[in-house]
Amino acid sequence: MRSHRSEPSTGFRLPKPGTVQIAPSILSADFSRLADEIALIESAGLTVVHLDVMDGHFVPNITVGPPVIAKLRRHSRLVFDTHLMISEPGRYLASFVEAGADHVTFHIEVEDDPLELIDRIHCLGRTAGICLNPETPVSSIEHVAPRCDMVLVMTVRPGFGGQTFMPEAAKKVAEVRRLVGPDVRIEVDGGIDSTTTPIVVGYGADTLVAGNAIFGQQDRLAAIEAIRAAARQIA
Ligand code: DX5
Ligand code: ZN
Repeated sequence: MRSHRSEPSTGFRLPKPGTVQIAPSILSADFSRLADEIALIESAGLTVVHLDVMDGHFVPNITVGPPVIAKLRRHSRLVFDTHLMISEPGRYLASFVEAGADHVTFHIEVEDDPLELIDRIHCLGRTAGICLNPETPVSSIEHVAPRCDMVLVMTVRPGFGGQTFMPEAAKKVAEVRRLVGPDVRIEVDGGIDSTTTPIVVGYGADTLVAGNAIFGQQDRLAAIEAIRAAARQIA
C-alpha cells in the first residue's frame, strides 16, 4: 500500500452514529446568497451541510468545485459533507480537502481501488463515504462499506435536485444497515422530505440529505422542522 501524507482534521466531525441528522443540500439554494443560506442551516441548530459536486461527465450537470467550497469555509463551522459526483475522485481529493471538505464521499461506480482511496481520505484527516447509485447493488460495496464512516444510498439518479424518490432504491438502506452494523452512518440522498423521511429512517438511515424540500420552500426553517418531526415519529 502506498504511504500518504497525514494531515490533521479540520475539527468539524460528523455526529456520532445513532442520532438522526438532517444534512441540507445547497443544490436548490439561492447560489447568489450561499453564505446566508448556509448560515440559516446553522441557525436551525443543524451541524452538517451537504455539498454536491458534479463534473458534467459522471453526471449530466455541473455545479461547484474547490474554489467555492474554500470561500464558504470562511463563513461556516458546519461539517462540509462533500458528495463527489465526479469521474476521477482520487485526482481531485487533495484540492477538496485543502478547500475545507470535512467528509468526502465518492461513487463506487467510478473507482477501481476504493479501499486505497478511503485510506487516502483518512490519512488526510477526513472521514470517508462511499455512494451507491440506485441501480448499483449493495454487494458492490461489501468489502468497502465497513471501512467507511458513512455510506450514501442514492434514492434518485444523481445529477439534479427536485426529483422523485425511488422507493426500491431506498430498500437497500436496510441491506446496508445489516452489512455495517450500528457504527457506520447511513445517508440517503434524493427526494427526501417529511413524507419519505419515515420510510428511510425505518430502514435504518440516520443522515437525511434534503435539497428541494428545504431550499425550494419559502419558509426553510419550517421545512427543516417538518422533516425533524417526521424523523422523530420513527427514531
Ligand atoms: C442529486 C444530489 C442531491 C440533491 C438532492 O444528484 O446528490 O444531493 O441535491 O436534492 P433533492 O433533495 O431535491 O432531491
Ligand atoms: Zn448529494
